[in-house]
Amino acid sequence: MDPGIIGQSLARIEGPLKVTGTAAYTSDHTKERVAYAVPVGSTIANGRIAALNISKAREMPGIVEIYHRGNVGALYKPSPEAGAIDEARPPFADDVIRYYGQYVALVVAETFEDATAAASVVDVVYADVAAPNVELQLVADDEPAEVSRRGDPEAAYDASPIKIDRTYITPAETHNPIELHASLATYDDDGFTLYETTQAIVNHRNVVSEILNVPRENVRIVMKFLGSGFGGKLWPWSHGTLAAAAARNLGRPVKLVVTRKQMFQTVGHRARTQQRVRMSAQRNGSLTSLRHEAVNDAGMLDEYDENCGEATPHFYGTSNLLVTGGQTRRNIGSPTAMRGPGAVPGLFATESAYDELAIELGLDPVQLRLQNEPTRDQSLDVPFSSRHYAECLTVGAEKFGWSLRSPAIGSMRKDGSILGWGMSGCSWLAARFAAEARVELHADGSARVAIGTQDIGTGTYTVLAQLVAETTGIPIGRITVELGDTRLPPGPTSGGSMVTASVIPAVLEAARAAMKSAIGLATTLERQPFKGWSPEDLNFQSGKIVARNGASGKQIDYHEVLQNASVAMVSGGGKAASTFGEEHPKRSSHSYGAHFLEIAWQPEIARLRVNRVVTVIDAGRIVNPRAALNQIEGAVVMGVGMALLEEAHYDPRTGAPINSNLADYIVATNADTPRMDVTFLDYPDTKLNELGARGVGEIGLAGMASAIASAVYHATGVRVRTLPIDIEKLL
Ligand code: MOS
Repeated sequence: MDPGIIGQSLARIEGPLKVTGTAAYTSDHTKERVAYAVPVGSTIANGRIAALNISKAREMPGIVEIYHRGNVGALYKPSPEAGAIDEARPPFADDVIRYYGQYVALVVAETFEDATAAASVVDVVYADVAAPNVELQLVADDEPAEVSRRGDPEAAYDASPIKIDRTYITPAETHNPIELHASLATYDDDGFTLYETTQAIVNHRNVVSEILNVPRENVRIVMKFLGSGFGGKLWPWSHGTLAAAAARNLGRPVKLVVTRKQMFQTVGHRARTQQRVRMSAQRNGSLTSLRHEAVNDAGMLDEYDENCGEATPHFYGTSNLLVTGGQTRRNIGSPTAMRGPGAVPGLFATESAYDELAIELGLDPVQLRLQNEPTRDQSLDVPFSSRHYAECLTVGAEKFGWSLRSPAIGSMRKDGSILGWGMSGCSWLAARFAAEARVELHADGSARVAIGTQDIGTGTYTVLAQLVAETTGIPIGRITVELGDTRLPPGPTSGGSMVTASVIPAVLEAARAAMKSAIGLATTLERQPFKGWSPEDLNFQSGKIVARNGASGKQIDYHEVLQNASVAMVSGGGKAASTFGEEHPKRSSHSYGAHFLEIAWQPEIARLRVNRVVTVIDAGRIVNPRAALNQIEGAVVMGVGMALLEEAHYDPRTGAPINSNLADYIVATNADTPRMDVTFLDYPDTKLNELGARGVGEIGLAGMASAIASAVYHATGVRVRTLPIDIEKLL
């Protein structure tokens, strides 16, 4: 290994393609004879289809075909072994309408405009129309599942002098990547080639092949660039199935781009959650119990567990703990993972409660956290692989100037504003998905790494190139990265902030195998320096083959070896197993962090701003600090949106998401962006992979909403437990 490239802030290697418009996103692809599909969505949320009158639509210009339950062809529900999907009911599977926007027909026409016009005159007759259940109060339909229990939290709570019992609510939030969901489906004798907006090409292939009932080998998924996903593009949705079915039926390519409005209805959202948190402590601040009981809403057919208690068992040091999770069904499209699923809404509740407990105790919230810092994972009863949360707290407090905080409500003022200072901790899982990779060393001095993962905008192209450059010593500019195609060796899902950690072992192994092959070749070449040497005595360094003991001073460029041997390339494969979801892990692996922030409140004009944020992240070794910083800053801004702005509203009469556009569903913009100061601690977690890299992305969002809620309380005396913190709640 030639150290140096890992840890460098390299610019994205695919950056020039993006800024010149050369990078082809899914909907940019086109094909000869492509037809355009537009789905027709239900305008009720609860009832059934009595009749579908398509005669008028059929007369519209440019119509190719109108698909519905009667003519779309067989579509199957994937088996659990196929992989992940949140809405498993195939489109048009029955006549029951369970949510607003559910697809009832698909119009295919020669142009997008023709298809849109015809879709608007498809006449759906509904029957048994009932009021939709979009009730905001969440009570689990069945007994909630026990996620974690230790000690006797009930008795400890009752016996403690200081206790709090609070309920926190997080709303439905809709993913709003700039790139719309899209699908371009082609079908020929070899099967399907599907250009998809997906964070998981391998899962997509495995699931969709079962829906379409064709062998995996006959489904190819392509996704070279993604305009972000945030979890909304993790698993397949109905539009992709419909595009594929239409392409098969028609024998011509079909393109389908989901509209922004439909994205609020049919491609998932962050589930609404209601979480009761009970905490108790001794007067000295020792945490005696924690109970975290969460309920989330879900669609009518599929299980969706938001898992709000994901971080709770390992994050908090207490002998007595209970975490439960329950669901309740609503007439809404299925929720799905949204950036930091589970832990992000969960930590809003538990970290807000911790802040409230600190106030009850009259203790500084940083002090309370340091005082209760666990030394091992008390729920799994295993050691942490690497936990430096306490240092996140102390470094963050120092950088922010936390010691200058005056705790009394409304006591800090500046430039006519009341300042609020708040802080929060955060945590996110660290694990690896299974991965395979191939590395090729070419005779022209270049290298290629191939892996069937995808870059969702986070820097995976660059990280893969860095891994090969570091291992082989071949310059980064001579390395080609090939990903985003299921013809490549199967790589990890871009989810859970896990890609970097997942690809490291497979890519390093593949690169080493390729280097070993080059060394082997060097020992066979006539009239060359290492003819007859034992490969064990040779090393591959900085692109050269050298004697291991350095004694001989002999060396040769690897590409000269290949040229002399008339070999175009040598290659190697690597493969590493998953550690995700292990039932009995030997260690507890997570990333940690802390946010300290300042808000400004101007009551006269009801103006609330986040001024500045100090974030310290313990995510192991950082492979590319520039890409990592980009992830955390983006997540912090998203946290401002989650805390202050984002909420999808469902109309109680129709069940329609009513603020279904970017004018009414408000996300944080540049003007909402605080000054940010992000620090990465550098403690390689070598138990997770050789380089010690965990993941960065989701963790930056975790804890932001509770830090803002705490700061708002500090400024105003109003504790907002139902997100978002809109101005009305402060007046
Ligand atoms: Mo992330 S919600 O795992 O895309």
